[in-house]
Amino acid sequence: MANTILVGAQWGDEGKGKIIDVMTEKADIVVRYAGGNNAGHTVFIGKKKYILHLVPSGILRKGKLCVIGNGVVVDPVSLVKEIQGLRKLGVKVGPNLVVSETAHVVLPYHRELDAQREVLKGKNKIGTTKRGIGPAYGDKAARVGLRMIDLIHPERMESKLRWRISENNEVLRALGAKPLSFKTVLAEYRVAGNYLKPFVANTVVLLHEAMQRGNDVLFEGAQGTFLDIDHGTYPFVTSSNTTAGGACTGSGVPPHRMDRVVGVMKAYTTRVGEGPLPTENAEISDLLHGMGREFGATTGRPRRCGWFDSVATRHATMVNGIDGLAVTNLDGLDSVETIKVCVAYRHGKARYDFVPNDAQTLAECQPVYVEFEGWRTPTDKARSWKQLPPKARAYLKAIAELSDAKLFIASVGPAREQTIFV
Ligand code: GDP
Ligand code: IMO
Ligand code: MG
Repeated sequence: MANTILVGAQWGDEGKGKIIDVMTEKADIVVRYAGGNNAGHTVFIGKKKYILHLVPSGILRKGKLCVIGNGVVVDPVSLVKEIQGLRKLGVKVGPNLVVSETAHVVLPYHRELDAQREVLKGKNKIGTTKRGIGPAYGDKAARVGLRMIDLIHPERMESKLRWRISENNEVLRALGAKPLSFKTVLAEYRVAGNYLKPFVANTVVLLHEAMQRGNDVLFEGAQGTFLDIDHGTYPFVTSSNTTAGGACTGSGVPPHRMDRVVGVMKAYTTRVGEGPLPTENAEISDLLHGMGREFGATTGRPRRCGWFDSVATRHATMVNGIDGLAVTNLDGLDSVETIKVCVAYRHGKARYDFVPNDAQTLAECQPVYVEFEGWRTPTDKARSWKQLPPKARAYLKAIAELSDAKLFIASVGPAREQTIFV
């Protein structure tokens, strides 16, 4: 299959988990390279539903090695719970999961600071998942973070944590929040460290040795292009490089070893949290929520929904180098009479064919739409390109062309078999 980077081409929740699960069949290794347990990747196997937060979605297939790379921030307590939850569901988690020793650790003060900053921002809040992601990456960049290698060495952990808690308690007090007990945090993290110790390794060397043996690697992106810290709608973004470049820095696999980039996108657009969403639309939001769809896999929040935005997906093709598109949730549009697709933005007299960098400008943009006649037929039973209604095929072709990439997969339901290779 060659080494493949899979990224979200919109604002997250594009259906990456489902597509990763399908593509894992032909891969040897699946690597998470960015984000943390802010991610929620849903995979259905038969009637069983799995939501993965930190563990790569490849864990659900036997004989695949799953790696949590150095670019991920790991909440060890949450990771332990996730592993235990998977084991309870009958999923084997053992030597098939490896965590980078240089991945940074999310601590309770990160979560607390995340929550406090959101309160302080008031109506300008980001709408974070409150998992401590921003403060954890902040500490990494400020060079005051703790890493997995510290977590599994109790003596190191103790001295570093003492210093970090004392500094962060000053900040928490100043913000009017309750300080943390060093003893309680240390005890909780010691237990997690002991549990996770067998999983922690030098994943850079491991990945290079595996590739040397001819293993194929699938890089599982988290979040989406417009939540990228550099390329997203800053400041309404997450704190890591979610785009394709992040796969290299977040795993230690160099660019020339990457063979292709698959971009996952919904047949419409969703976003959870605050920030601009030019094609947001109440009609499609109500329709999807009415079907019980588009509620966040991590926080349960209703996702904001809108029409397909090809200005955004074309931009995503550009910054990620997407060669193949996986379009999911086509079936979500089955009952829509007239489907709109955004092909440009208007801002006063200006017309944009790319996503402006300033979130304020983007928020003021008006979408320019073209319309497609809906197919008004269920697509969820289609198993081949030919079985799709002609109008659905025309729609897929058009959005792929507008996104400047080749259609690779069309998905018509959450299950593995509801996947059409084009
Ligand atoms: P991720 O974060 O990108 O992995 O996406 P999420 O799992 O957060 O959200 C995607 C949702 O869409 C999940 O509930 C999936 O089960 C669901 N899903 C994925 N592909 C399809 C599809 O083609 N049709 C339908 N109906 N649901 C899908
Ligand atoms: P997956 O991998 C959708 C959003 C949050 C918020 C912003 C910052 O499932 O696609 P953070 O907690 O990261 O500081 O929040 O990013 N966000 C996501 N939205 N899917 C995700 O992950 C997300 N992870 C973070 O809602 O707007
Ligand atoms: Mg998700």
